[in-house]
Amino acid sequence: MKVLVIYYSMYGHIHRMAQAVAEGAKEVAGTEVIVRRVPETLSDDVLEKMGALEAQKSMSRIPICNIDQLADADAIIFGVPTRYGNMCGQMRQFLDSTGKLWSSGALVGKIGSVFTSSATQHGGQESTILSFHITLLHHGMIIVGLPYTFNGQTRLDEITGGSPYGASTIAGPKGERWPSENELEAARFQGRHVAVITSRMMS
Ligand SMILES: Cc1cc2nc3c(=O)[nH]c(=O)nc-3n(C[C@H](O)[C@H](O)[C@H](O)COP(=O)(O)O)c2cc1C
Repeated sequence: MKVLVIYYSMYGHIHRMAQAVAEGAKEVAGTEVIVRRVPETLSDDVLEKMGALEAQKSMSRIPICNIDQLADADAIIFGVPTRYGNMCGQMRQFLDSTGKLWSSGALVGKIGSVFTSSATQHGGQESTILSFHITLLHHGMIIVGLPYTFNGQTRLDEITGGSPYGASTIAGPKGERWPSENELEAARFQGRHVAVITSRMMS
């Protein structure tokens, strides 16, 4: 069983969450986890102005995904930072290159799941995940979120990301906050949950 974790991360928050998602999926026996990034669409010049060049270099060891790897996976977990309450353009551009998969129905019946991050607590995490689901449904995918059996979702003793739609982290207005243990546990839970459901479907 192959679980593909595919993401875009500008400053590293989604990158950290993606590692936790992969850790969770790997806990399920028989799961091969593949981690990939989507291609960057911004020039180094622009990335430098956005203060993201160093972070991009540190993530460069993660290979770039090609669309055939989506077809090869049994489940795909997408990680994406919020841009104005929607997915980032890098992910949108990558998804817009999957017409070949759509026309052949290559992703129909596969599990799809999404996690996210935003600068602010109410800056569009849920809208980013839910609007991402539309594309997955057009591909005929079966959507899996983050159930309330992840108890950390209901805690009120600290600020935390995470919703029934998927794991998330709050990066702070300057990207100064890093995923908390609760948010990383949500990401691990989501990865594990996707792998368990996929293995049940395949048996
Ligand atoms: C163009 C742009 C638009 C953004 N829009 C939002 C937004 O609507 N709400 C929000 O809370 N954060 C917004 N952010 C902040 C990003 O979501 C944040 O930098 C990101 O989640 C950090 O994750 P990363 O380090 O993996 O890229 C925006 C950032 C950029 C560059």
